[in-house]
Amino acid sequence: MNTRALDLPDDGRTPPASGLLEIVQRGLRAQPKRLPSWLFYDAQGSALFERICDQPEYYLTRCEIALMQAHAASIADQLGPDVRLVEYGSGSATKTRQLLEHMVSPVSYVPVEISPGPLQQSVRRLGERFPQLPVQPLCADFTRPLRLPIPPRAPRRTVVYFPGSTIGNFAAREAVTLLRKMRGEMGENGGILIGVDLKKDTALIEAAYNDAAGVTAAFTLNMLARLNRELGSDFDLGGFGHRAHYNALAGRIETSLVSQRAQKARIGRTSVAFGEGEAIRVEISCKYSPEDFAALAAKAGLEVLRVWLDPQRMFSVQYLARAGSAGH
Ligand code: AVJ
Repeated sequence: MNTRALDLPDDGRTPPASGLLEIVQRGLRAQPKRLPSWLFYDAQGSALFERICDQPEYYLTRCEIALMQAHAASIADQLGPDVRLVEYGSGSATKTRQLLEHMVSPVSYVPVEISPGPLQQSVRRLGERFPQLPVQPLCADFTRPLRLPIPPRAPRRTVVYFPGSTIGNFAAREAVTLLRKMRGEMGENGGILIGVDLKKDTALIEAAYNDAAGVTAAFTLNMLARLNRELGSDFDLGGFGHRAHYNALAGRIETSLVSQRAQKARIGRTSVAFGEGEAIRVEISCKYSPEDFAALAAKAGLEVLRVWLDPQRMFSVQYLARAGSAGH
């Protein structure tokens, strides 16, 4: 049995090895009911996420791209020359391109992505813009131990790039585990360049996950639509609603699918009952102050060397290295 599937949805957005049906049945048997957030990202969910990034309320992507735009040269300078860049998740080609444009003689670019489609797409997009750059794609779940491909020449350092505040989808304990894993993969002299969304006015955060056009609601509902498509389940999409609430104490957005009435759904051979107002928890998006994140990094044996912030302090791009390491 896959142990990670037991603490859904806090294990992030990448699928464990066990079958979809089994994972969904287990999550809906749990109390409270939950489904893992990586289930969002089928082709339709990925397209909906792209549309979320264009919504006026969803400041995260815009802020991060603006930060990369403003500081690409100083970020590239911090990384130094002859870097092997390993990106976790398919990522937006925009941010990676901004970074690579300023890096001095990068050794290779290694995108790590579980879905072959988006992986190939990122290889193609980067290849067109950087024909000289060796691209070594790795189709894998980045929450598991990785076998990085052998680089074409010896890098001065390996930098793990983890943009988008995807780290926010992991609860603190899992986030520390993931950072520790990155620390191991980057080696002695390596670094982590990570996008981290910041704590701010609750109304601004909640609006980002409740856009007026309803794209985030459609994104959340698509999870059930996907299960109907792939498992032949019979969720009544009109019978569930999207809810995203900021839990100030935990410092995170908590997103749920809420049953609008008492109802049942059939998933494989099992029937699951939902009470009126009962929630299925589908995602957390943790927000950090710079101090919070430094403390989290410290638990993983990492030190924050640089933080780039926008003037409104909405979002941060941070550079981490092994705690107490020299050579940076
Ligand atoms: C891609 C995980 C960073 O948590 O903000 C956007 C996903 N969910 N709107 C986030 C998401 C709802 C997003 N991350």
